[in-house]
Amino acid sequence: MTRHLTSLYDLTPQDVLAILDRAADLKTKYRNGVCPQLLQGRVLAQMFEKPSLRTRNSFEAAMINLGGAGIFLTTEEAGLNGRESLRDVATVLSSYSAIITMRTFSQQLIEDFAKISSCPVINALSDERHPCQALTDLLTIRETFGRLQGLHLVFVGDGNNVAMSLAIASAMIGMKFTLAVPQGFAMSDEFCSDLSHRFPESKVDQVHDPTSAVATADVIYTDVWASMGQEEEADRRKRAFVRFQVNTELMSHAPEGAKFMHDLPAKRGLEVTDDVMDGSSSIVFQQAENRMHLARGLFAWLLAQ
Ligand code: CP
Ligand code: NVA
Repeated sequence: MTRHLTSLYDLTPQDVLAILDRAADLKTKYRNGVCPQLLQGRVLAQMFEKPSLRTRNSFEAAMINLGGAGIFLTTEEAGLNGRESLRDVATVLSSYSAIITMRTFSQQLIEDFAKISSCPVINALSDERHPCQALTDLLTIRETFGRLQGLHLVFVGDGNNVAMSLAIASAMIGMKFTLAVPQGFAMSDEFCSDLSHRFPESKVDQVHDPTSAVATADVIYTDVWASMGQEEEADRRKRAFVRFQVNTELMSHAPEGAKFMHDLPAKRGLEVTDDVMDGSSSIVFQQAENRMHLARGLFAWLLAQ
């Protein structure tokens, strides 16, 4: 059966744990110089309409590491700008590929493409979701704390693609998720009620005071205030989010041992200060490295289905 990852909702909680275990096992082997050539001769096609450092390169590195190779094209080059129908592009590209990754503005475009593709399609970020980031974050949190269940993840910032995927991931895995967000930038009621309908036991809430939110945090997470595509709103957002910067003062209200995470790229001096990014609580570069380990685990798991 062709499995896709357009959103974490394509997975069960058991699938999530299986992917994390696969990634952790491959990471240990990698650290010991062992790279099983599980995907020899297989092709990864990547189609991006927004820039990327981590996602694009960690996916390609993962495929090369597993014995395969990557092809990169923009959606324009692929013909998704009207040159060809979505159906024709998806049919042809999936006939060349073992896995296709897509970074788009529209979540619907990835879901429509996946319905036609004969190979797995992975969401490499859309305006609404970033599932591979959230899976990587679970892997990183589990490495750091030795468990996931019962931990409290506090996201300080925008109710964006990364926040929504982390809310879903937390609900699936039994972590508490709090979004500390300015008025007007929260996750929608529709999103939240759908999530609690799917996972009635989930503990997801949204508050407007970052200081009290971090008081019980195991992980404090932030992301840019203006995501790709929102550049024109950057000044307005800077003003709205000013009380939501993760700095040493905010971290001082968190329990000892709380960790700082950021999916990157970061706007240092805006949503996070240098002293927090580079401080002893920060696990951001372990998190960034884990994008590749997670990708290897995910590819191996998807192609074993
Ligand atoms: N975190 C992340 O997705 O980074 P890129 O935009 O560089 O891929
Ligand atoms: N929310 C950010 C994430 C980047 C990885 C964006 O969409 O630009």
